[in-house]
Amino acid sequence: MKIKVRGFEMGYDDTGGAGVPLVLIHGYPLDRTLWSAQTRAFADIARVIAPDLRGFGESTLPGADATMDTYADDVRALLDALGIKNAIIAGLSMGGYIAFAFYRQHAHRVRALILADTRATADTPEGKLGRDASITLARDQGAGAIADAMVPKALTAQTLKSNRALTDATRDLLARQSVAAIITALGALRDRPDSTPTLAEISVPTLIIVGVEDAITPVRDAEMMRDAIRGARLAIIPNAGHLANIEQPDEFNRVVREFLQTV
Ligand code: MLT
Repeated sequence: MKIKVRGFEMGYDDTGGAGVPLVLIHGYPLDRTLWSAQTRAFADIARVIAPDLRGFGESTLPGADATMDTYADDVRALLDALGIKNAIIAGLSMGGYIAFAFYRQHAHRVRALILADTRATADTPEGKLGRDASITLARDQGAGAIADAMVPKALTAQTLKSNRALTDATRDLLARQSVAAIITALGALRDRPDSTPTLAEISVPTLIIVGVEDAITPVRDAEMMRDAIRGARLAIIPNAGHLANIEQPDEFNRVVREFLQTV
């Protein structure tokens, strides 16, 4: 589906179910198909909405600059357009950074949070230099080069060794994204604020999920969020890395379903 929000065409899925709205925000540099194993899995208990962030997937890119607030505002505009007042906001990695921004802007519209393979901290100085190097890489060599650099960090060694189909599909997902969207997102990632102070302000039920072998946002980041968010639960997914929802969809979906039944 497509809808016009804030001056651009946004691609999104909406299962239209009658349950609580559940918004799935993808990470970088991905699109809503990241959630293929989740979109239909909760149809009996949730109305699942999965947007393509600006520039990714089927969404157009209205301008070169964006911040996490920009992406959060885009999600808010989608909810407005769909007549949804509050929702469970779930984000994976950069989607989690956007969930924090959304919470800061519109806490009253957040019924619960799911923070998957993400972290609260800002980029370190070295991390920021790494974003600049990635911007150069994307500009000079395209999305395929970004995919080649990222996939080995995003999946477990076991998947890379023995699951060629999943490895190739993940590479394709990254490699087909637009270079302009990638560069815009890299600027937003580099300049994102530290969300650590937000953690103590979160007063909605929160589920934190992390792949035990996540090399990008490791378990210690998830534990730090669990310790700082009142009442938060942490689920550590075995045999999964940074994209826990695609490497272990059954276990990921099981912990999400269990959480959905309590909120
Ligand atoms: C993501 O998966 O969204 C990114 O890896 C996040 C990041 O690089 O900080």
